Amino acid sequence: MSKRGVVLLGATGSIGENSLRVIRANSDRLQLVGIAGGSRAEPLAAIAEEFGLRNVALFDDEACAQARQSGLFGEEVNLSSGIEGLNRLATLPDADVVVVAVVGTMGLHPTLAAIEAGKEIALASKEVLVLAGKFVMAAAKAGGVRVLPVDSEHNAVFQCLNGAPDHEVERIILTASGGPFRNLSVAEMAAITPREALKHPNWSMGAKITVDSSTMANKGLELIEARWLFGMEPEQIKVVVHPQSIVHSMVEYVDGSILAQLSPPSMTFAIQHVLLYPERKPGVEQTLTFEDTMNLEFHPPDLEKFPCLRLAREAMEAAGAAPAIFNAANEVAVEAFLDKQISYPGIGELIDHTLQKVDNFEPANLQEVLDIDQSARRMSRDLIETHEF
Ligand SMILES: NC(=O)c1ccc[n+]([C@@H]2O[C@H](COP(=O)([O-])OP(=O)(O)OC[C@H]3O[C@@H](n4cnc5c(N)ncnc54)[C@H](OP(=O)(O)O)[C@@H]3O)[C@@H](O)[C@H]2O)c1
Repeated sequence: MSKRGVVLLGATGSIGENSLRVIRANSDRLQLVGIAGGSRAEPLAAIAEEFGLRNVALFDDEACAQARQSGLFGEEVNLSSGIEGLNRLATLPDADVVVVAVVGTMGLHPTLAAIEAGKEIALASKEVLVLAGKFVMAAAKAGGVRVLPVDSEHNAVFQCLNGAPDHEVERIILTASGGPFRNLSVAEMAAITPREALKHPNWSMGAKITVDSSTMANKGLELIEARWLFGMEPEQIKVVVHPQSIVHSMVEYVDGSILAQLSPPSMTFAIQHVLLYPERKPGVEQTLTFEDTMNLEFHPPDLEKFPCLRLAREAMEAAGAAPAIFNAANEVAVEAFLDKQISYPGIGELIDHTLQKVDNFEPANLQEVLDIDQSARRMSRDLIETHEF
């Protein structure tokens, strides 16, 4: 059996690290052929050296120029920067599958470039579908390209659906850990600091998604991601809080049967499933043994405490550009919160105000989506300057 060539965008991140574990453990099936990162050249160079890579992209021009000057990468390495650099990696002739795991919407252009080049997409960056799901999924369909979900909830749904026809599926049920602040009161949440928000009880992840998980904006983004990945109507997607993060999501069939996918809270399970799909091989980590007592709880989400989830659902229902506005405002809000410019409840308030101020419409093409993304970001930044959040 020939090896699948893998390109890893976001190689130095949390998903990147877990992907590398899966690739090392499955070297008979998977071959890393290229990597990209944002601005941290040293860890990227270490990965390039370990895997003997010739194709690397470092998005940040300055960091890239410095790395070139200092000879950090070997002479045999073709090092490129900027969005062209990411696109070059995403379309490498040796690549069969491109793992998109960069922060935020930065993955949009390389995802589209990879689709156009006929590469399979292993998608971790949910923001790509929240921003432009309609156009990305249409391009994938037109090109006969598979978009396989790395996000653990969507991967669970994908496994539970197992190709079932739409008319047999009643709904999908996304589980949410509820984050570290699930048991705080609304009043107590006002004092949450960036340091506290950057600690997740179950998952070890990058900074943005960790804050998103604590506000449940992450689950909101996942609602919208699920809509595009599985072609579901908004009312067919339910969220339930499951603090143990063992049941990664469920599918309810029309006959009332509910199928769930379970594994410990580690991304290696979903990543391996996608990279080897449809083949199954022993995983890189021990799974559940059921030798000790284990309680699995499920609660409805509290939308008063977690307004970001309510706002995301409203944006999904409003459709058009509303999900892109939600996403842009959330990215600005999280950055501002981590920068101590706004309070923790300010994140939801800023998203709410931005959604009210930026007119919703149905974007006719990708450029209109990108324009609305920029206007929403500008509006959020202006609101930060003129309001107290
Ligand atoms: N972590 C999880 O468990 C998890 C689960 C599901 C979905 N996701 C999604 O996966 C994506 C990545 O999350 P993460 O937790 O792995 O993030 P992370 O740990 O912060 O890593 C982000 C990666 O993206 C790179 N990067 C940042 N800006 C870039 C740019 N402009 N161009 C190219 N690369 C850039 C970073 O490079 P530097 O190191 O150089 O900054 C790093 O390699 C997010 O969309 C997240 O929502 C993550």
